[in-house]
Amino acid sequence: MSEEVAARFEKRWALVVGAVILLLLVMIFFTAAHWSSMPPSRVEVIDSTTLHRGGEFVESNLGTALDDDGRIVVRVLAEQYAFQPSCIVVPENQPVTFRVTSSDVVHGFQVFGTNVNTMAVPGYVSTFVATLDGVGERAMPCHEFCGVGHAAMWARVRVLPRAEFQALMRKHRRASCV
Ligand code: CUA
Repeated sequence: MSEEVAARFEKRWALVVGAVILLLLVMIFFTAAHWSSMPPSRVEVIDSTTLHRGGEFVESNLGTALDDDGRIVVRVLAEQYAFQPSCIVVPENQPVTFRVTSSDVVHGFQVFGTNVNTMAVPGYVSTFVATLDGVGERAMPCHEFCGVGHAAMWARVRVLPRAEFQALMRKHRRASCV
C-alpha cells in the first residue's frame, strides 16, 4: 500500500471516530437537558446512625406524603434486606420527589421500566424527581449487592390514576398501599 493510500484510509477513520465522539456528546447533552438521565446534582448528608430515632426518615414519616409546599414526596429507607415501605403509591403523570437513604450499607434503588435509578448510600440522601406513566404495579429491586439477602430485597411501586391518588391523599395527606 502506498503512503498516499494509507493516509487516505487514516483520514477516513479519523472522520468516523470524530463522528462517533460527536454523536456521544450530543446524546449526553440531549439526555441531560431532557432529564432523561439523572446525574447526581448535589450532596446532602445525614447521620445514618440516628435514622430510626427521629428526623425525616423515622418510620412514621416514610412513604408518600404531600409536603407543605405542595410537592409529592416519597421517602424510602433501604436496609438489609428490605425497603421501608415495601410498597409505594405514586400518581400517574405527575412529578414525584424521591428521597432515599440507607441505614447500613450501599443499596441500589431502581424502578423497572422507568429511568428511576440511583444508589442508597449510608450517610447521604439521594434526591431526584421522576414522573411515572402507565397505571399499574412495577417492581423495585435492590440492584447493588448488599449481602446474603440481596436477591430477596424487593419492593413495589403502584402507579395510580390521578383521581384515585388524590382521593387517598385528601384524607390523610399521605398515601400507602392497602
Ligand atoms: Cu440491598 Cu442489594
